[in-house]
Amino acid sequence: MTKLGRLYSMFDSVRLPDDLPYTQVSSWELRFLYLVGRHTLSGEGRVVELGSGGGGSTYALALGLKESPVFDERTGRLHAYDFFRVGKGTFATEKFFTSGHRPAHDNSFLDDFRGRLEPFLPFLEIHAGDLWQTSDPDDTTPVEFLHVDIAKTARVFRCVCERFLTRLGPGSVVLHQDFAGPRLPWLHWSTGALLPYIEIAGPPIRSTLAFEVTRPIPEDVLKSVSEDVYTLDEKLALISAVQDRVDRDHTGGIPFKSVLELSKAYVAHYAGEHRRAWSLAKPLTSDEYLARTRADHFEQLRKAYEAQPGTASRLKRLVRGR
Ligand SMILES: C[S@@+](CC[C@H](N)C(=O)[O-])C[C@H]1O[C@@H](n2cnc3c(N)ncnc32)[C@H](O)[C@@H]1O
Repeated sequence: MTKLGRLYSMFDSVRLPDDLPYTQVSSWELRFLYLVGRHTLSGEGRVVELGSGGGGSTYALALGLKESPVFDERTGRLHAYDFFRVGKGTFATEKFFTSGHRPAHDNSFLDDFRGRLEPFLPFLEIHAGDLWQTSDPDDTTPVEFLHVDIAKTARVFRCVCERFLTRLGPGSVVLHQDFAGPRLPWLHWSTGALLPYIEIAGPPIRSTLAFEVTRPIPEDVLKSVSEDVYTLDEKLALISAVQDRVDRDHTGGIPFKSVLELSKAYVAHYAGEHRRAWSLAKPLTSDEYLARTRADHFEQLRKAYEAQPGTASRLKRLVRGR
């Protein structure tokens, strides 16, 4: 069992304050972040959170570090990266403002974040702005912990790969938030590529997959992941390899094999292979969980397929003059 595996039996022992900052992650994930900070991190390598938002996840992690017997607040640092502002393309919500909405003439929630994270400011290092600008391409300091809640586009994922995954080594811990998001297939195929060098901690915790690096990750593997060199079929095979390792999440609510199957459809969709995407997605429309939670995904994939030249529904629309 990895050092993360034993945390699964400790969820019930965690009591987080009721007045945590607004967060988009579940209480299960918050408690896991706390446990990782409290029991597994030393602070000797970089402790990094990518995508702090309004600070809910940051708070849970920072509280764990503060209560850790080994993390030294005088020398250890928690690095928090985010735009810390709302606006087009940021993926940040107005709920990250303490008031719950954006004040007039100000789109930054950085002061709100600072205010709510006040007890931890002595060891919190804030990097505000676009990750491509705020992260240092020349920084090779080892990363002990990486919470990835930022890779909502392939462009940002590339930055995560180039500047952070390259700094992982044996013992490093990674938490991928939104692993239950079929529209983020790069999280899934990249994990497939890393499987020989990592150990998955256990069932995902709601939408979070946790793993520990167990062997040095070869440079060429990281380069292939960063540069997205895999073919469509290779990516599907990499996702299948992850499907062999994960099933239902720890709470029993999320069937990851189905989620990952829908992620394969998105690999095809992003490659412009809409027929293939729909042929992968269509059989999943009868999956109870996906039908209930991902109707919009099916709609998107079906529409893209139907817009293809030569599909029956496109011909029908053309005949009807629409
Ligand atoms: C899902 S939210 C994070 C939620 C947060 N962890 C919580 O506990 O609620 C994703 C965050 O990623 C940030 N983000 C997305 N792309 C970014 C980029 N290129 N640079 C910096 N931040 C980015 C957004 O500002 C947003 O706050």
